[in-house]
Amino acid sequence: MDQLWTDKLGFKKNPFKDTIDTDLFFLTRQHEEALVKLKIGIEDKHALILLAGVSGTGKTLASQVVLKALDTARFQPVLVFVYPGMGKGALLAAMLDELGLAGGRFVQERLSILQGEALRLFEQGKRLVIVIDEAHFLKADALHVLRTLSNLETEQEKLVTVLLVAEKSLKRRLQAPSYAALRGRITFSVSLQALSPEDLEQYVKFRLLKCGGGVDLLSPGIYKAVHSVTGGIPREVNKLLYASFIDAATKDSLPSSDLIYAQVGKTGSYDG
Ligand SMILES: Nc1ncnc2c1ncn2[C@@H]1O[C@H](COP(=O)(O)OP(=O)(O)O)[C@@H](O)[C@H]1O
Ligand SMILES: [Mg+2]
Repeated sequence: MDQLWTDKLGFKKNPFKDTIDTDLFFLTRQHEEALVKLKIGIEDKHALILLAGVSGTGKTLASQVVLKALDTARFQPVLVFVYPGMGKGALLAAMLDELGLAGGRFVQERLSILQGEALRLFEQGKRLVIVIDEAHFLKADALHVLRTLSNLETEQEKLVTVLLVAEKSLKRRLQAPSYAALRGRITFSVSLQALSPEDLEQYVKFRLLKCGGGVDLLSPGIYKAVHSVTGGIPREVNKLLYASFIDAATKDSLPSSDLIYAQVGKTGSYDG
């Protein structure tokens, strides 16, 4: 079915698949600003950077675009995905694993292996950049270990940049007094919001075109409906349009505003 409707409409691939595809990255003004700021934060050697925003606003995609764009002669990127309840031992082990290093058995050992690697890289003129996605899932002990990591330094400078990618709940959690020291080390912070109606329209058109379809597949009036149903959250936009295109295809037609509104509350198709 997926194949059918995409083929029929001339798409090379499903434009609304919820995957991280850096080819489909669209530079809305806010995403562009976030990218520029993140690059500056990394270039300026901040030890702890926070990229925050509600779920589905493009944090994972933006952070991967930033990582991809880093000059590998000067940076060693590491990407770690956090699972709910991940503690410090597992977090450090995941970092070492990504770096292709065998982990020690104890937290202290793992930290010193990581420090050794950061120093080795530093001597080669490279800086370790660790991106921790879904950081709001980290347990308290793992958050505290990040503070230790952010302290690794030579006499001249900090050795590691940690980019925390997280939902806004992390910011609230860090307000607790026990996190004061960690909070104080987050010297650079970037946030992503929902798309404005104008950006949403450009975002959708970009995806249609990029995947081989025409912008005339959707009537001009439809974007208002999409914005009001999704609140401008890209992930919800993708889900909604995906469901709507499939729904329309079963009737051999294209999504209309009515069909967009009709997805609300439908189980199995759109549940944003
Ligand atoms: N600027 C953008 N350009 C293209 N796709 C985007 C953009 N922002 C978000 N998306 C898409 O929206 C979905 C959610 O993005 P994601 O990065 O997973 O959000 P988050 O990590 O904030 O929950 C993904 O399918 C992603 O590809
Ligand atoms: Mg994400």
